[in-house]
Amino acid sequence: MRAAELFLSRFGETPDGVWLAPGRANLMGEHTDYNDGYVLPFALGQGVTAAVARRPGRVLTMCSRQEPGAAVEVALDGLAPGRVSGWAAYPAGVAWALEAAGHRVPGACVAIDSDLPAGAGLSSSAALECAIALALTSLGEESVPRGDLVALACRAENEFVGVPTGIMDQSASLLSQAGHALLLDCRSLETSQVPFDPAAAGAGLLLVNTRARHELTDGEYGRRRAECEQAARRLGVPSLRDLTDLADLDRLADPVLRRRARHVVTDDQRVLDVVGLLGAAGAGAYRDIGRLLAQAHVSLRDDFEVSWPEADVAVDAAMAAGAFGARMIGGGFGGSVLALVPAADGSTAEGAVRDAVTGAFAARGWTAPEFLAAAPSAAARRLAAR
Ligand code: GLA
Repeated sequence: MRAAELFLSRFGETPDGVWLAPGRANLMGEHTDYNDGYVLPFALGQGVTAAVARRPGRVLTMCSRQEPGAAVEVALDGLAPGRVSGWAAYPAGVAWALEAAGHRVPGACVAIDSDLPAGAGLSSSAALECAIALALTSLGEESVPRGDLVALACRAENEFVGVPTGIMDQSASLLSQAGHALLLDCRSLETSQVPFDPAAAGAGLLLVNTRARHELTDGEYGRRRAECEQAARRLGVPSLRDLTDLADLDRLADPVLRRRARHVVTDDQRVLDVVGLLGAAGAGAYRDIGRLLAQAHVSLRDDFEVSWPEADVAVDAAMAAGAFGARMIGGGFGGSVLALVPAADGSTAEGAVRDAVTGAFAARGWTAPEFLAAAPSAAARRLAAR
């Protein structure tokens, strides 16, 4: 409840409520969301909390424990893309998207806190958007279906902040269930909750923040998206989701586009394969899922070319130390690696993986990695109300 404490110290009162939206990890399906494909993320236990109170007037006054400095004031009237910059663009963008969709946003004071490392590729920005979306709609007494909030938060990021992301992160934050991964068909928007309990099958999840900061605003993400759209156009399909036969890709003369498309087609299939394996019990299934994670990393590294040196080293070190599998997650060019490790009684594999990754980073003179727990957790929710 550090957000509530921050609220009290900055605004001199207790908030009307506190909302928590989790970050996410992704088990499988990277850069498939904006290709109308499949993703299989899960919500983390870590997230963004927003302590919020209604205020008369048409202003959002916002502060964040992670952003020292004066509170940012944003006028709700006249909000438009380009008017707000920095971290406040995410919450302001949500207010803008809500109002553009006909929902009345109340004036409010907002205090933000987060236990998600920023730039670690764990969707701290989507978590911020989702916490604000839930808080503002609850305080405005608007009941907006969560699926609509996903679309509004995504619109805020695409059009207000100006980053052309897909819907995976906001969906994971708003629609996940504890103990499950979220299978999302990004074309039909159909979701299903896939039971995901590695511990029950003698496996464990470990997140490695490689400390190479990941920024989606630098243009590479948008370039990948444009390449995928170009590949789909040249192949005469609405999106790469429509391809299942790798032989179709031979019709792409450009080797770069062929590699990009191959990643998307194979990763879509890997999502479905992981879902199938999760339906089968036992450590054997997790061993096979690990193999798919390792294949996905190679695909992201060599075909999609979004990996980065620290991720490649972390994956190799984790595998050599006995992980079932590991791969970079998220948009790429920095951020985190997800490792699946044996964790049956008495297994020391997780410790060995940590030591191996730490050692490999030290040997290269890199900043030590940070290890985080990755427990499939519940979606965004209200934590307290006065
Ligand atoms: C970022 C985006 C998502 C998704 C991933 C890559 O996290 O926000 O929409 O495209 O990258 O899978």
